[in-house]
Amino acid sequence: MIDSIPKDLNRPWEDPMPETGERHLAQELRGVGLSARDMPEWKKNAYGKAFTFGQRSKLSIQEQRRSLPIFKLKNELIQAVHDNQVLILIGETGSGKTTQLAQYLAEAGYTTKGKIGCTQPRRVAATSVAKRVAEEFGCRLGEEVGYAIRFEDCTGPDTLIKYMTDGMLLREILIDENLSQYSVIMLDEAHERTINTDVLFGLLKQLVKRRPDLRLIVTSATLDAERFSGYFFNCNIFSIPGRTFPVDINYSRQEVTDYLDSALITVLQIHVDEPEGDILLFLTGQEEIDFACESLCEKIKALGKDVPELVVLPVYSALPSEIQSRIFEPAPPGGRKVVVATNIAEASLTIDGIFYVIDPGFAKQNVYNPKQRLDSLVITPISQASALQRAGRAGRTGPGKCYRLYTESAYRSEMSPTTIPEIQRINLVHTTLTMKAMGINNLLSFDFVDPPSPQALISAMEQLYSLGALDEEGLLTKLGKKMAEFPLDPPLSKMLLASVDLGCSDEILTIIAMIQTGHIFTRPREKQAKADEKRARFFQPEGDHLTLLAVYEAWKAKNFSLPWCAENFVNSRSLKKAQDVRKQLLAIMDKYKLGVVSAGKDFLKIRKAITSGFFFNAARKDPQEGYRTLVENQPVYIHPSSALFQRQPDWVIYNELVMTTREYMREVIAIDPRWLADLAPKFFKVADPTKISKRKRQECIEPLYDRYHEPNSWRLSKRRA
Ligand code: CDP
Ligand code: MG
Repeated sequence: MIDSIPKDLNRPWEDPMPETGERHLAQELRGVGLSARDMPEWKKNAYGKAFTFGQRSKLSIQEQRRSLPIFKLKNELIQAVHDNQVLILIGETGSGKTTQLAQYLAEAGYTTKGKIGCTQPRRVAATSVAKRVAEEFGCRLGEEVGYAIRFEDCTGPDTLIKYMTDGMLLREILIDENLSQYSVIMLDEAHERTINTDVLFGLLKQLVKRRPDLRLIVTSATLDAERFSGYFFNCNIFSIPGRTFPVDINYSRQEVTDYLDSALITVLQIHVDEPEGDILLFLTGQEEIDFACESLCEKIKALGKDVPELVVLPVYSALPSEIQSRIFEPAPPGGRKVVVATNIAEASLTIDGIFYVIDPGFAKQNVYNPKQRLDSLVITPISQASALQRAGRAGRTGPGKCYRLYTESAYRSEMSPTTIPEIQRINLVHTTLTMKAMGINNLLSFDFVDPPSPQALISAMEQLYSLGALDEEGLLTKLGKKMAEFPLDPPLSKMLLASVDLGCSDEILTIIAMIQTGHIFTRPREKQAKADEKRARFFQPEGDHLTLLAVYEAWKAKNFSLPWCAENFVNSRSLKKAQDVRKQLLAIMDKYKLGVVSAGKDFLKIRKAITSGFFFNAARKDPQEGYRTLVENQPVYIHPSSALFQRQPDWVIYNELVMTTREYMREVIAIDPRWLADLAPKFFKVADPTKISKRKRQECIEPLYDRYHEPNSWRLSKRRA
């Protein structure tokens, strides 16, 4: 059976049982009377028994809590929080920081004075941890223990412990700068250095001075603890001694050309050759993970019945939580599970029983592309710190192995030691608007742990100025204030507010909800033609935003029917999510008494509203081929899945660019170029007719002017400031 897996040539790592590995394992195993040469025996029994594989889950939930490294330090920890207003907490992943500390502090009485809030950089972590803690606490999720993530509030009047994304806490500060509902704030996973956590750092540093009763706990990986302590008035660092086992690192001998393929082979090799223990494979995103899971299932089937069961479990943030929680269930007896995850499993999620980690060395990172004035998720090499963290996931239950699908020299010379904080690589428009709305006017002097570049801040302010959110002085306008009320990127909130004036907010609400949700259409591999045909029936000649609207309206007309979704190759989960997002945006509209008006069949209004938020993303047809963006004159193309792919109108606005074989515009709508000057007067203007060439006049195209390419007084004065 092993022969059916290609060996050697495709074997991306060094020998599966290298000399060093054997010695290393042999040392570890001496204590339990095993030698690494006893492979077959091992496989049958010893490893599992010796290292409690799958056993912890047989313990009662309270026994599990007591078995965590943090448990022994419970009283010391409560005392430390009592004695220190700010405390840095470090400890290995899985030691119990996230799930236990809040409960300890609740027991110690902190919830009598307010809530305990714990932030997470990732939505999945916030929900899954809350679920676990509710279980431990013995309540239903949303009662004493709850969570809040964007567009999903699962808390109630009884909530004492609240897990949330860092973005949610930032929004709460916007509403109440003193966070008076809270007695304790825990900034968890601070070493991830998300932009929201970084801003929270600065805000909470000020807040602890105003509120001596507030307790702040910052949890972090060991590496950053000293720096964080230095930032927070040299506060104390509390360390939970780890219980980790050595991990044997195997590098790839040659450069790996197709990491996905290598990763899949590695999974199968481990499954067939190695003793019991679950596998964790890091991939970069949903598409890759779905593909990997599908191929693994097929390949395992092809290997026949002799091969033990392999449970394949995907993990990424878009996955519904019921499916996600399956990763915590133990593997079936005799079989094993392979968890295929994004870098969410690097530190935010702890999965017990992992003995093997496969690390291709890549992750998707949000990176600002100044050309597009947009962030895009780009597959980038991880840092050495990430690689270490990933390897560490294999050494929690017993000595583990990590297969790095890159060479040792690549690790040493090509990977940076640590990850660059998000604030120094992403678009600051949203954060700038939020901070301005908090009354922080001078962002350049804000106390950041690592400040963003002044250019990035100025560019963000310029974009907000163009959107009408800031005035000439760089101060928040009325419009900007309203924009900040919505948990949306500024172009989207601008588009929504413009739609109120234009009289099409009912439709724009739907369009935003659909865009935010994404993954609307399904396209099963065996029914692609049928799916494409169904999808084309929704196409609107003016563009894809209106197609999304048509889908939602058609679904609504069918009373939000689920069978209708399946018949029409529409993702019912996404539509339900969009319905939910829409409801929440509607609630904010009602709160601020913003009118919800329907445009009826007047699609012109809708296209204008889209233009007033997304004018940065205008493109005009290139006489040669495809399109060129107006701002950067960059070549772009309409995505083949677009309703406008055949029509190719002269002027378009896109929602986003995706780079595959070329730069494709996704969600495209046809516009009239004159709207640009009308709706974005601070960004475009109609060129002086005396300066237009004869040819252009004949073409009746109004040339547009890009204020970024010509210095203007506001911009210069800001630069000097
Ligand atoms: O925060 P830290 O990495 O220190 O640990 P934790 O997230 O509090 O996890 C402690 C233990 O709780 C893990 O070892 C898991 O066994 C368990 N856990 C779980 O079963 N389900 C979750 N969603 C999170 C944690
Ligand atoms: Mg944690």
